[in-house]
Amino acid sequence: MDKVDFPETKSHPLNEEAAPGTPEALHPYVDNGGGIISPERNFDPQIAHEEWEKLWCRVWQLAGLASDIPEVGDYFKYDVGPESFIITRTGPGEEDIAAYYNVCQHRGNRLVMDDFGSVDHFTCLFHTWQWNLDGSLKQITDRETFRENLVADNPPLTQARCEIWDGFVFINMDDDAEPLLDFLDPLPEHLKAYNFKDMKIIKDLQTPWPCNWKIGHDAFIEVYHVHAVHPEILPFFNDYQVQWDTYRAGHSRQLLKFGEISHRFEDQESINPGLAALLGEVNVAPEDFPDNPDDSRRLIQEAKRAKAERLGLDYSGFTDNQLSDDWNYGIFPNVTFNAHPEGLLIQRFRPHAKDPEKMTYDLMVLFHPVDDPTYRVPAYMGVEDDVDISGKVRPERRFIGHGEPGLGDVISQDARMMEYVQQGINSRGYGGARYSEMEQQLRHWHREWERYMDGER
Ligand code: FES
Ligand SMILES: [Fe+2]
Repeated sequence: MDKVDFPETKSHPLNEEAAPGTPEALHPYVDNGGGIISPERNFDPQIAHEEWEKLWCRVWQLAGLASDIPEVGDYFKYDVGPESFIITRTGPGEEDIAAYYNVCQHRGNRLVMDDFGSVDHFTCLFHTWQWNLDGSLKQITDRETFRENLVADNPPLTQARCEIWDGFVFINMDDDAEPLLDFLDPLPEHLKAYNFKDMKIIKDLQTPWPCNWKIGHDAFIEVYHVHAVHPEILPFFNDYQVQWDTYRAGHSRQLLKFGEISHRFEDQESINPGLAALLGEVNVAPEDFPDNPDDSRRLIQEAKRAKAERLGLDYSGFTDNQLSDDWNYGIFPNVTFNAHPEGLLIQRFRPHAKDPEKMTYDLMVLFHPVDDPTYRVPAYMGVEDDVDISGKVRPERRFIGHGEPGLGDVISQDARMMEYVQQGINSRGYGGARYSEMEQQLRHWHREWERYMDGER
């Protein structure tokens, strides 16, 4: 394996032949400069306040899954920073979903407190004002006791923008924001084959982290830390030869090769237990293991395609590389997708309402249920063996404390680092972040963050 070709290419294309504009194509390199990124954005309360106004109140954000509100009147609650939203199904059409600020127009009580629910109409628990699912006012209790000018407008619920992509509900507080699909371009085209809409949620977990939401997020749009934090995956994960692409609107991706031995791992000659496990997962018998471990990834791709055919799964939309690899996307500002044909790991990083040194980490795993015991989401996603993956039961959302088990081994390793990174960033002895080309997604992301902060977005 040839190892070092930085800084000439800055990225290792997965497929040199990919035609421009196709999902595997290398996007032209975006030069975001080489300056040091100042640390204050991770703790300064004034910056956090400005960030709320200039970024969060203007950007599309993933609120949740359309599959969580299948029936008219079903709702889920989405909390972000100081705000809370009710996302509800208003009609039978796929797109009949609305988002309302979760606030009563009488004296400001929260309208719903539960994360999920189902109603005919919304009733405030303080003085029982009511609203219809379409947000219009249904009832003001003892209306005759109000001066008419105070209620003449029949105050509706305040609406937020709400648009859907492939089963994901996004909201935006900015009425003038570009349409969601324009904002996400070109991600929907790249990720079409995975058909997320038909996946079922099999894990849903939330936990507080003692760090700024950007610190949490930053750790998942680079694999530079893998050799230090997750050395156990080096036997079957290429953490160095990665295709990075940075797109408009702050989005980016890294195409991560599973089934290849990292050049950092000593034994380059044998089929190590990690590779053997990946081969075994796709039913390659030990006697058919390749002599040269470099052939493993290709073999996994072939075996996955054959297995899909056996199971009657349509893999025609996937490239070979999508079968073996982690298509790992950063959706600006606060979501990452690890996409595999079998399933999807979603991570979401939400700012705390008041404290810039706190955040909430959300982990969701989606899965295409298949009747085959060896068909599972990749082990690193941390789905416990006893989890029901039939797709028939929506798992309850679990809340765990920081450091408590539940994230799975790999993400727990990341989570442990966060509070120490926050502490270090706060130090007078720290001058700011210096990004390598392996961290080019971070530089790209922070450049976009600066555009919002400068009012250019
Ligand atoms: S605060 Fe909601 S009805 Fe009074
Ligand atoms: Fe990590």
